[in-house]
Amino acid sequence: MSAESPLDLEAVQRAAAWCTFIGKDTAIVEFHSTLDSTNQRAGELAREGAAEGSLVVAAQQQSGRGRLGKTWNSPVGGLYLTVILRPDQAMLRRLPVTLLGGLAVAEAIDATTELHAELKWPNDIYVGDKKVAGVLGELSRDAKGSVLLLGIGVNIAQPADGFGDELKETATSLAGNGETTSAESVLSEVLKRFEEHYQSVKAGGGVGILSSASARMPMLGKPVRLRLPERTLTGTASGLTQTGALVLELDDGTRDVFVAGEVEEVRPK
Ligand code: BTN
Repeated sequence: MSAESPLDLEAVQRAAAWCTFIGKDTAIVEFHSTLDSTNQRAGELAREGAAEGSLVVAAQQQSGRGRLGKTWNSPVGGLYLTVILRPDQAMLRRLPVTLLGGLAVAEAIDATTELHAELKWPNDIYVGDKKVAGVLGELSRDAKGSVLLLGIGVNIAQPADGFGDELKETATSLAGNGETTSAESVLSEVLKRFEEHYQSVKAGGGVGILSSASARMPMLGKPVRLRLPERTLTGTASGLTQTGALVLELDDGTRDVFVAGEVEEVRPK
């Protein structure tokens, strides 16, 4: 398998072969050579009653969705997937499922390349100082309970100069770092590792996951700026709470805990 091996339904099914619930039993598996958004398609399937573990993968997206209402650049060469999850309230209170997704992607990159992927809280995946993958969780409710659409985008085979002006300073791909791993290999590792983390948190675990995620967050212990919709705060990111929230020792001497926001390191001038 090389970076050029295109994904197709068979490749997706092979990637999910070792899973215990993704793509298993009554769960649906779809592959699309092009789609507006895998999260949008997964939402349609969920509304029709699709089971937990249903999986939608696309080779490219026309309207990829990012966090905070942004778009996700989704040309051929990237990996775009959404898993339909039906977590109960206890699961939702434990750890953000998106954090598990981010950790699974970082681990998958490490397992399939020579690179070391890091996390930027809450769930952006970085190689060096550029973002290589992102995770979007969209939560809703239906008659059966909560539905969480876990969307993951990984820049795999896009060339280093394949990002437009607005992304070239901040985005990268595995190929841009000299890696030729295939989308199928990355997908397989992401699904396997995500499942392990999800099952472990479902069973009441999570401490090991939190420490694995924290160990990949170089920002912890450093001065940061946290952008919230209504204000921007500065302080030191001292760690994560047991539920994955960010603890900030604010510059005004107080301490506060945040469940969302855009965080960036403040480098000395
Ligand atoms: C982010 O902004 O960092 C999150 C990006 C998430 C992108 C993925 S690609 C597959 C899935 N479908 C979408 O429309 N978005 C997510």
